[in-house]
Amino acid sequence: MSRISQRKIDEVKQAADIVDVIGEFVSLQSSGKSMKGLCPFHNEKTPSFHVSKERQLFNCFGCGEKGDVFKFVSLYKRLNYVESIKFLADKYNIELDFFEQNQKTTNLDRYFRINELAKQFFNLQLLNLESGNLALNYLKSRNLDEHTLNYFEVGYAPKSSNSLWENLSKDYHDFELINLGLVNKKDNDFFDVFRNRVIFPIHNEHGKVLGFSGRTFDNDDSAKYINSTQTDLFNKSEILYNLDKAIPFITRNKRLVLMEGFFDVISAHIAGVKECVCSMGTALTVNQAQMIKSHTDNVVICYDGDDAGVKAAYKALFLLNKVGLNVRIALLPEKMDPDEYIKKNSPESFRNLLKDNLYDQYDFVYQVIVKRHDLSKASEIESARISLFEYLHRNASSTIREIYLKKFGKDIDVSYNDLLADYHYFQLESAKLDNVRRRKELIKNSENSIRNHNKAVEAASKIVINYFVCYEEARDIIKDKVEQIKLSNPRQMQFLYALIAKLKDNLLNDDFQLKRDFVDITEDELKLFKKDYKKPFNEQEITESISILIEHKLSSESDFRQKMVSEGSLNSKELEEHMRKIEELQNQIRIIRRNRNGKKANNG
Ligand code: CTP
Ligand code: MN
Repeated sequence: MSRISQRKIDEVKQAADIVDVIGEFVSLQSSGKSMKGLCPFHNEKTPSFHVSKERQLFNCFGCGEKGDVFKFVSLYKRLNYVESIKFLADKYNIELDFFEQNQKTTNLDRYFRINELAKQFFNLQLLNLESGNLALNYLKSRNLDEHTLNYFEVGYAPKSSNSLWENLSKDYHDFELINLGLVNKKDNDFFDVFRNRVIFPIHNEHGKVLGFSGRTFDNDDSAKYINSTQTDLFNKSEILYNLDKAIPFITRNKRLVLMEGFFDVISAHIAGVKECVCSMGTALTVNQAQMIKSHTDNVVICYDGDDAGVKAAYKALFLLNKVGLNVRIALLPEKMDPDEYIKKNSPESFRNLLKDNLYDQYDFVYQVIVKRHDLSKASEIESARISLFEYLHRNASSTIREIYLKKFGKDIDVSYNDLLADYHYFQLESAKLDNVRRRKELIKNSENSIRNHNKAVEAASKIVINYFVCYEEARDIIKDKVEQIKLSNPRQMQFLYALIAKLKDNLLNDDFQLKRDFVDITEDELKLFKKDYKKPFNEQEITESISILIEHKLSSESDFRQKMVSEGSLNSKELEEHMRKIEELQNQIRIIRRNRNGKKANNG
């Protein structure tokens, strides 16, 4: 059976914004937070079909159809689930990675086995061979004893250029070692990727080895860490280091502690906090948040105390909240990571920090904004005030707001009422700003769509005239519709009528004749009548162009009537007639668009 990987499905979903996809088939109007239009799945006169950009879902309150972008495509195009993924992948130029499931599982099994052997190789080098002595001493100097190193299966990648390759290439293909990011090939030689580094093996939650991270330790100036490259197994955004070993402790303690680095996790473990994982840096992803959520409802963020760590904690807070986790934060002293904190203080003090000194999100933010400003300086008070207002404005209920404004008032020695007045003023100003921003966006969007419309009409007009002159097959098609279309300017319309009148003379693309008929014709306009021999007659192109020009005629009339209505000088009977006509025109436009888009999609 052929399957598509979840990663690919996610990639397609990311690219195929639901509003864009549906908007191509259904005419959508903004309505509050979502978009609204006539449901394509049942007959209706008033729109009850909603599309939410934010949630990437559609929902029809009339007939009950709902779902994500794949569901829409499969209903609308009558495709099954896999076909609808293919359809959208095609549309957004994403190559799918179909694979035979069986072959793939055996491949993955082999990959896991190779990684396991590599881990054992590194571990042996560190703990049992002389070559690992320096690395072992380094780790011991950082308070990691052999018992701990064994538990975390830490290793050492030797200095020599390819001893891992020599060891594994007896039983495995070079391309497999390369695919796993263990080996590089240059000219005809093979090199180990990890050389002279302390190695942390990285497991999935079931304890299988996904890849490795290697840290320098003898002051050379190469990168501090190098990680396995993105491979079939290793995808940094879907990994939490130590999750496999932490699971029983997460269950027992009903929480997970999230850190930045390997040394933090290992030191915390030694200090007795064993429910720790790290995101390998500060960039936490939704995937990782969801992984956490599948094991517990409670997270403690314990990032470094530097600016980067605090900022990252602030960001992680929202992400973790979003997947429904309760979040608390341990705030370390500035310029300290958990590993350093434990060393400078004591395991017990660290355990206490993670027990009794956790902040909830408001306290954390308040702490960061207020306590880290020097409140004896007016300029710093001002910047703290604005940051606090901005945070409360976006995130807090009025109760929370009152609590923190009062707290802040005490800290800067200003009355609550004065602060509240400031706050209301701030709210007013930001509402004004929001309004201006929104209006600008609206204008920009409509300008854009007018520009696109004009461009399409211009191109279609040229095609119609050119086809009429150059292709006999096109003439009847165009003549049939000439009453219904509007070209991009009156001059072109004049050309077209003249051409139709001249049809009998068969002198359509004779420059001389043209110049006589249209004395003031320009060189540019003459190009309209020239045949492009690279471009053969294309029926789809001409019917599509005609369709665009029919729509143009209808929408010009609708715009004209709209203008009459908004000028406000009509009597009620005229008004009613205009409104009725506008609705009718809009319906016709919708049908034309839908037909055109449907055809386009069918023809690929
Ligand atoms: N990291 C990484 N790739 C890098 C740098 C960092 O994957 N190029 C990850 C590692 O998991 C690392 C963590 O980010 O453990 C935190 O980085 P950093 O604070 O720089 O390192 P520490 O682990 O704290 O190392 P040390 O204590 O030795 O400074
Ligand atoms: Mn660190």
